[in-house]
Amino acid sequence: MKALKFGILLALALPGFVHAEQVAQATSPDGRIVVQLDLNSEGRLAYRVLRDGKPVIADSRLGFILRNDRQLLRNLQLDRQSSSSFDETWEQPWGERRFVRNHYNELRADFAEKDRDHRRFSMVFRVFDDGVGFRYDVPKQPGLAEAKIVQELTEFAVARPSTAWWIPAYQWNREEYLYNRTPLSQVGVAQTPITLRADDGLHVTLHEAALVDYAGMNLAKGEGQVLHASLTPGSGPAPVVRATPFQTPWRTIQIGERAADLVESSLVLNLNEPNRLGDVGWFKPHKYVGVWWSLHLDKETWATGPRHGATTENTKRYIDFAAANGFRGVLVEGWNVGWDGDWFANGWDFDFRKPTPDYDLRGLAAYAKAKGVHLIGHHETGCAVSHYERQMDEAFALFDTIGIDAVKTGYVCDAGQIERQDVAKGPVLREWHEGQWMSNHHLRVVQDAARHHVAINAHEPIKDTGLRRTYPNWISREGARGQEFNAWGDPPNTPEHEVTLVYTRMLAGPMDYTPGVVSLTGKNGQEIGSTLARQLALYVALYSPIQMAADLPEHYAQHPDAFRFIKDVAVDWDESHLIAGEVGEYAAIARKQRGDAAWFIGAINDRHARTVPLRLDFLDAGKRYRAEIYRDGEGADWQGDARFRFVREERTVKRGDVLDAWLAGGGGVAVRLVPLPR
Ligand code: NOJ
Ligand code: CA
Repeated sequence: MKALKFGILLALALPGFVHAEQVAQATSPDGRIVVQLDLNSEGRLAYRVLRDGKPVIADSRLGFILRNDRQLLRNLQLDRQSSSSFDETWEQPWGERRFVRNHYNELRADFAEKDRDHRRFSMVFRVFDDGVGFRYDVPKQPGLAEAKIVQELTEFAVARPSTAWWIPAYQWNREEYLYNRTPLSQVGVAQTPITLRADDGLHVTLHEAALVDYAGMNLAKGEGQVLHASLTPGSGPAPVVRATPFQTPWRTIQIGERAADLVESSLVLNLNEPNRLGDVGWFKPHKYVGVWWSLHLDKETWATGPRHGATTENTKRYIDFAAANGFRGVLVEGWNVGWDGDWFANGWDFDFRKPTPDYDLRGLAAYAKAKGVHLIGHHETGCAVSHYERQMDEAFALFDTIGIDAVKTGYVCDAGQIERQDVAKGPVLREWHEGQWMSNHHLRVVQDAARHHVAINAHEPIKDTGLRRTYPNWISREGARGQEFNAWGDPPNTPEHEVTLVYTRMLAGPMDYTPGVVSLTGKNGQEIGSTLARQLALYVALYSPIQMAADLPEHYAQHPDAFRFIKDVAVDWDESHLIAGEVGEYAAIARKQRGDAAWFIGAINDRHARTVPLRLDFLDAGKRYRAEIYRDGEGADWQGDARFRFVREERTVKRGDVLDAWLAGGGGVAVRLVPLPR
């Protein structure tokens, strides 16, 4: 006791000790989350976040290091503050839920340096019942015409001992890593979203919203449990170069007692600007098939030659298959000039307007149209991004004239190797997938595509930060290890991977995971670590408004029972709920079909078999439903022949019933619930 007292006295006497004073505060609508801002005697700014009076984020610093000016972090005073409240419900043109409530209290605090240039910036905090978003708002000012931001000094000093689910940043394979599950103290440099579960059960996800004209934020672990913003570099003098006025993206802290609170949160979307495109009714959420899995199995090739996948004949086969089974889309990769030879290295050879000689683009588009099917375009850039930008408008115009209204784009190259060339024949600069230049590139693509009524599904993308609210033709993306790793990945995806995606990557937005590989086998006979029922459950568990039936038609013919679910499952929803689950262990999600009374459930499991009670509390009272259940059969398991053990059965159920679902290790269950006539 004596020693402790002495310690405190010593701390007060030390020259570096600085007294802090609270200068502003904001509270969530339900009063449970509180944000406080402090200025210390050096004029340094910090924020903290409390929930029910207990710290979630302890004192965390804010500020900037600039290349073209003195750092902006000290000697600040509060000039002015204002508060406001907001409550609206907006409608998504498509999504996991039709109506989204956007309800928060906002604090705007204007800070200025006490001396020299009196540079100014504001902090804007929005406090929701499910978390906090904040950003810097830097006004136009004589003392700071332009900011070359070397680092944003934003900190997240996580207060409670926590477990973290995270993937590393700045590694060569971009976002395509299996998740680490470690104590937060053992995180290195992580990408966001990063999900944390405190020892007392509180769930927190850190991410960002509205990443526009700025570098993506990673989080570097500092002392103890402090995470520091780390901005993705660019080819320029600093990761971010902006003229004033500008705003940073929102830094987001989603907070919930249960894992479900994170999955059901719309905080990231709410922090984005409303729809700027107007009516996007021309985009129809849909399922698609295509010349794709065969390429990853190496049965067919992207390149022209004897095994070329994108031939007129082969594409007709897929169009017929789509038409016969009610799929709207047919994706064809390798249709254009540029794939021959080492396309990884030769992005500059791609021509996005010229089909290969054995591919009758216009004829196939017409053939598809006559059957109610739409080709899906493919633009693999191989990272020659400026080269792509020079062609994209013509390429989208071409697609528009022949009824192609969705395009999958691709940015295959190692991290940091995006090729940018501002003037033809000029020097080639190298950029990162998550850097400021790419944040602008993707918006140029999405806006140009929108002018031609084309929707974009980007692979090897920049991370999703909810911009689909503003640009609802940005329908999906990859941005994680997808099913393709089950073809050739070493190792392939683990049972934990997809379960972890639900609570991490999927909080950012839709993912084009490409489920439905019912053959459960990759290249050279490599086993896919999944049961058959789980492949079906993925359609509901991993949200995207476009979902691929990724396997080959001949494989679906071998599994007609399973295929039935893939044909029936919806892709657009009125409501979505996580009805059972724990981060990285299992997830059961129920969704109500948009504009229809049917519900679907998808549950997926880690490698440990378990029984999960699926409470049907969401069904309409007074109705009876036919439950079409696609489940793991007795003895099913994610390894060996047992992964094919599978049962389809039907039962009559009503609201309040509980389906006790046995999930095999690496297994799952998919359910369709159809109201019965009275
Ligand atoms: C990587 C994408 O994720 C994959 O889906 C695509 O087939 C290849 N790139 C070729 O573009
Ligand atoms: Ca990929």
